[in-house]
Parts: sequence; structure tokens; C-alpha cells
Amino acid sequence: MSHAKVIFFILTPKKEKENYGLIIIGPKEENELTMNFSRLCEAEPEKSCTFAALIINNTIMEKKTLKAIFVNGSPRKNKNTALMLESAMRGAEAAGAQMELIHLYDIDFRGCKSCFACKLKNSKCNGVCALKDDLRPVLERCREADVIVLGSPVYYSYPTGELRSFMERLCFPVGTYMYENGKHICLRDKVIPTAMIFTMNCPEPYMRQIGYPPILEENTKVMADIFGYSETLYACNTYQFNDYSRYDFNLFSEEDKRKYRDEHFPTDLQNAYELGRRLVEKAHEA
Ligand SMILES: Cc1cc2nc3c(=O)[nH]c(=O)nc-3n(C[C@H](O)[C@H](O)[C@H](O)COP(=O)(O)O)c2cc1C
Repeated sequence: MSHAKVIFFILTPKKEKENYGLIIIGPKEENELTMNFSRLCEAEPEKSCTFAALIINNTIMEKKTLKAIFVNGSPRKNKNTALMLESAMRGAEAAGAQMELIHLYDIDFRGCKSCFACKLKNSKCNGVCALKDDLRPVLERCREADVIVLGSPVYYSYPTGELRSFMERLCFPVGTYMYENGKHICLRDKVIPTAMIFTMNCPEPYMRQIGYPPILEENTKVMADIFGYSETLYACNTYQFNDYSRYDFNLFSEEDKRKYRDEHFPTDLQNAYELGRRLVEKAHEA
């Protein structure tokens, strides 16, 4: 009886587009299969980093494009948080992911209601949020995501209430009250690289001085515990209004704000781009 040969390939993008790498998980033989697959990828170098293929007996059975979900926890759809997320999306796209941007304030939903249906023994809801509202399809898509990035403005030292409500619904069903060999059991079959992006009015030295990072990074810790990996990215001293002359303020100067935005925000956006790319590359390895 002949055995089907199963090889799983993942192509990971390197720094230069034309210079991509091939990782073979499974039998390490250089045979016709690997040659065929390399040729396929050479024919489509732009897409090569998106390929993860299951090859059985010389036939490509399945090609997988990684999915990355970006969640905007700001009520504003085209301001600082959204711009950071969009830049992260461009990075994820460059690494070959399919992207979706979700504006939480467009969705009619509440936080966890503590029904514990997601923890019920032998229930089809086990591991899944049972609440039936407009967040349900979004959570469904998050369960299929390979990368998740959450963005939020800082409101009184915390993420927005909407983002926190979303996290309750996203994380609690995946986490369990069970430990095995000292490890928290989470209901996912692989590591999902995640990140939290925070934007805030505070300049960076001041936000460190008043202790924002330990507060905000509690959220990153939750994401890391539940999904296996998480990072934090900050954009500080953000430019808040289109026209500062219309608003009351004397805590800062519009000129300083504009100067900071022009000089530093492009770097924040670049950091977001790199983050998006890095997470997708990590997901290819996961
Ligand atoms: C209700 C509210 C509370 C805020 N609280 C803080 C705060 O505690 N610290 C801070 O640095 N900025 C605070 N900000 C400013 C926002 O975090 C900042 O402008 C952010 O970049 C806005 O994001 P957006 O442009 O995506 O809406 C607050 C803004 C609002 C509307």
C-alpha cells in the first residue's frame, strides 16, 4: 500500500519583496514537490508570502491567505486611532494578509452579561459568546482570524468603554477557568498574534511619568494570555481638532501640537505599518 505524502509549506516574506524564503514543515526532502511549489511562487512573487499550502501527492489541495482583523475603538473613523490602524493594515497587506477594519461605534452591542453560557459543559456554546446582537457575526469572523489588532484612544487613562466591552466578548469565551501543567487553557488551536494600539493627547514623557503603560498594558496582557502573543504600540501627543481656534484650551499650544504631528506622527504611522507586517509574518510561522 502506498502512503500519501503530506507536506505543509509556508512561505515567509523577507525584507526585500523578491527575496522570499521557503520553510518546509514535514519531510525535509528536496523533491519534485518542493520544486513545483517554488516554481509556482516564483510565477507569483507578489503573492508568495501569502501562500500556505497543503500538498498531498503532488497536488496543491489548499492555499490559505491569512486574515487580519483591525478593530477601531474610537468613535472617530478618520482620526488618530483609525489612521494608525490603517497604516498597520497596509503593513499586514504587504505581508500578504487579507484585511478587515471594524469600527466598533457602528455596531449595536453591549459588554459581557456574565451568563457563562460560554463555559457550559457539553454545550454548543462552549467557547463561544452566546449573546445574540450585532457583534455576533464580528466575533465569528474574529474566531477565523489569524491576526487581531485592537486600537483605542485613551479616555481617562483607559481604553474606551466600547473597546473594553468588545474585549470582554472577544476574550472571555476563549479563556477558560482551567489550568493544565501550570498553563492557562485557552480554546484556540494556535497562537494568534495580536496587538493593542493606543493614541493619546499626553506627550510621551508625561504619560510615562503618570503611569499609563502599566494600566494600558494590562489589556495587552489579557490579549497575550488569551491569544498567545500580544504587543503594545503608542501614539502620543496626538493632534485632536481640525481647527484648534474653535475650542477652549490653554494646556498646550496648537503650534506645538501641529509641529509634533508633522515631525512625529509619520514615525508613529511607520511603526504601525511595521507592526502590521510583523504580526502577519508571525502568523505565518504560528
Ligand atoms: C472623553 C475623553 C477622554 C480623554 N482622556 C484622555 C486621557 O486621559 N489622557 C490622554 O492622554 N488623552 C485623553 N483624551 C484624548 C484622546 O485620547 C486623544 O485625542 C486620542 O488620540 C483620540 O483618538 P482619535 O483621534 O482616534 O479619536 C481623551 C479624549 C476624550 C474625548
